[in-house]
Amino acid sequence: MSDPLRDPDTAAALRYIAAEAERYLGSLAQRGVRLPQADAIAASLDERMPETGDGTMPALTELVRAADAALGSAGPRFFHWVTGGGTAAALAADWLTSALDQNAFAYESSPLASRCEELALEWSKDLFGLPRSWGGVLTTGATMANFVGLAAARRWWARRHGVDVDERGYAGLPVVPVFSSGYIHVSATKALAMTGIGRSMVRRLSRDAVGRVDLEALDTALGELGGAPAIVVGNAGEVNAGDFDPIERLADLCERHGAWLHIDGAFGLFAAVSPRSAHLVRGVERAHSVISDGHKWLNVPYESGFAFVRDASLLHGPFALEAAYLPPPGARPQFGALGPEASRRARAIPVWATLRAYGRAGYRDMVERHLDLAQRVASRVDAAPELERLAAVPLNIVCFRYRPQGLDESALDALNARIGAAILADGRVYVGTTRYAGRVAFRPAIVNWRTTETDVDLLVAVIREIGAREAAR
Ligand SMILES: Cc1ncc(COP(=O)(O)O)c(C=O)c1O
Repeated sequence: MSDPLRDPDTAAALRYIAAEAERYLGSLAQRGVRLPQADAIAASLDERMPETGDGTMPALTELVRAADAALGSAGPRFFHWVTGGGTAAALAADWLTSALDQNAFAYESSPLASRCEELALEWSKDLFGLPRSWGGVLTTGATMANFVGLAAARRWWARRHGVDVDERGYAGLPVVPVFSSGYIHVSATKALAMTGIGRSMVRRLSRDAVGRVDLEALDTALGELGGAPAIVVGNAGEVNAGDFDPIERLADLCERHGAWLHIDGAFGLFAAVSPRSAHLVRGVERAHSVISDGHKWLNVPYESGFAFVRDASLLHGPFALEAAYLPPPGARPQFGALGPEASRRARAIPVWATLRAYGRAGYRDMVERHLDLAQRVASRVDAAPELERLAAVPLNIVCFRYRPQGLDESALDALNARIGAAILADGRVYVGTTRYAGRVAFRPAIVNWRTTETDVDLLVAVIREIGAREAAR
């Protein structure tokens, strides 16, 4: 078998994969998140590329067999990092997106993709309480969305120095002043590296070991610039405890000093969806750029992110591209000229589908269910004598550690790291450790639409069981 034209039974391949995917998804609530045989199965995929393939179905059969090397991150007991699943509407629409194989570069390359992206952006602005007048673009995730927002900020900053940085580069320009709290996410510092601003150029102005922002220090630092432009990165949802920088206060300072305010709301922007949590993002509409993720709390399959920019014209600087063979910029949207990619997946289609399917109320219900589940975990932790909660739970992350009597801090760190490794190896639930104010701690994040009370109860039970075992060693 060689030429794909000789093996054209697409329908049989899709039917087979649909049936297998259904079986897999149906097993997620019972099966371990990480199966013991995962490493062996992953390694069993032959490293040699075949000279002559044996056709579609044998390849797919081998892949389905290898699916046991996948982690159950689509399922309800994956609490590591901040990892959403895919709603039924988003997943099915994502499959259709692959079948349609549209290039979402411009309206001319796909009217469907363009229209869905316009609607996905409009609807999500509504969902997050951002003005309709803002521009935006869908990205592969929050890292690239941070890159887009910070590229717009960089353009604005250089313009204030009289330079078109996207045409001329940085030559002759001063260092870009960037400030944040200790909550800044690594993806934002990565984006600072990608924009050429420099990963370590951000000044983290925190008033404590947790990383909470020092507003007075920020006020002073911005004041010392004497009116020169600066960029402030605010954090709507940090990864250790789901805490927020005070966005309104940041907006006040940025307004007073004429600074650009960029908000990373990769998952925390979804606080806007419920009246119970909306206060956490109050003032976000006063920022200049705001980002979020689709593959986290929206529960759209990878890869999906949102970048919103108040002054959409700034995106044309870094991202515009023109060539004689391409459609000219004009009345029709050209999202490929507003973000880092040119040819792009029509990732708006699953975003549109899930918002169309469940609407504002559906997402509010899901977010509120997750808020309740986080409080349930917190109360289980508080009730367990050997567990110690380390932070308040403003949103969907609970930060705590295993703390039996009589151990000093370094022994506790070692024990919690050991428990964390044992939980990942056990695989019934999946949750990693972090360092919170220097202490090794668990930080389960609840973002998957499938997660229920049973799953979070199992999470706490497994941590207690494995904790007791490891503490007794
Ligand atoms: C606050 C925050 N910002 C940005 C990111 C990066 O997101 P992505 O992995 O989608 O690029 C994350 C991911 O966890 C995050 O939690």
